[in-house]
Amino acid sequence: MDDRVSLDDLVKGAKGLSAEEKTAARRILLAISSGGREMAQLLATGPLRGLTGAAGAVNVQGEEVQAFDEIAQEVFTRTLRESASVALLVSEERADPESLGGGTGSFHVAMDPLDGSSNLAVSGPVGSIFCAYRPAPSKSADLAPEVLASVAAPVMAAYVLYSVSTLLVVSFGSEVRQYALDPSRGEFLPLPGAVRFPEKGSRMISLNAGNASRWREGDQRYLRSLDGTSYTARYVGALVMDFHRNLLKGGLYLYPGDLPKESKGAGTAHPEGKLRLLYEAIPMALIARAAGGEAVDGHRPILEVPPVHIHQRVPLVVGTASLVAEYLRIVSSP
Ligand code: AHG
Ligand code: MN
Ligand code: MN
Repeated sequence: MDDRVSLDDLVKGAKGLSAEEKTAARRILLAISSGGREMAQLLATGPLRGLTGAAGAVNVQGEEVQAFDEIAQEVFTRTLRESASVALLVSEERADPESLGGGTGSFHVAMDPLDGSSNLAVSGPVGSIFCAYRPAPSKSADLAPEVLASVAAPVMAAYVLYSVSTLLVVSFGSEVRQYALDPSRGEFLPLPGAVRFPEKGSRMISLNAGNASRWREGDQRYLRSLDGTSYTARYVGALVMDFHRNLLKGGLYLYPGDLPKESKGAGTAHPEGKLRLLYEAIPMALIARAAGGEAVDGHRPILEVPPVHIHQRVPLVVGTASLVAEYLRIVSSP
């Protein structure tokens, strides 16, 4: 059966949203689509225009800002502002939440405007990640606590993958749908079928083994446990691409925390890993769950991690449910 669901129908069918929230969600998805379309065009000609290098600045995460990190920040901030449906916007590229005003039924949105930006220099795949959170009933005077209070209620997650094709993947928590950009029409068109981790899928394992000497013993044990088993190593260093491949084929993505710096091992100051809770881990967890998979921080579900900071990092293990369960078993049993 060729079951394609338009973005409009996906929003209409979203469970637990008021009519006003559906209008806001639809506008936010249109903003992500039009920003994604614009970014796909800009990225395609980036090398010709000398835009694939560093911008000469360091962001709030202490990471070198690439020209496209800033371009994506500006593109999506503009389209999301124009949607008039986002109250507060949190971005990897900005230290503080930005108030966009928003309208009735509006959401707070957290975004990673350009994910996997080290791939830009080699024309590798990159992405953009978004999560819409329902504002908590009681308002806070400060913006960051206001966003953090909404994190308990992620309503919609989406990512755009810029690769050999440009895909938009969206979930309201009950199913996951894919849309592909038709550049000649400038539109994202639905692909058939809801996406689910395959029951008898591959065992694609995506991790940066070069960091393993800094990991905790449990994560090192997991890596050793793979030795001699049948699995396929796949890692491109862009969460969106690594997650998406594993979603379609079956697999596990792992970015653990390092040992603390002062420990005996070769630790660093990143005991919570590299990925960010609000705009990387939670959206991927929402999509993974809706596709029959799981996402944990090494112990508990990502969706149960208490948010304490808008740029909080968290260890992330996400993928096929049975592979996450296997990881948890090995990590917890010395
Ligand atoms: P970003 O480009 O938004 O900073 O994210 C990069 C992240 C993630 O996409 C990727 O999986 C991971 O960093 C790769 O990190 P390593 O190079 O340490 O493996
Ligand atoms: Mn990222
Ligand atoms: Mn980024």
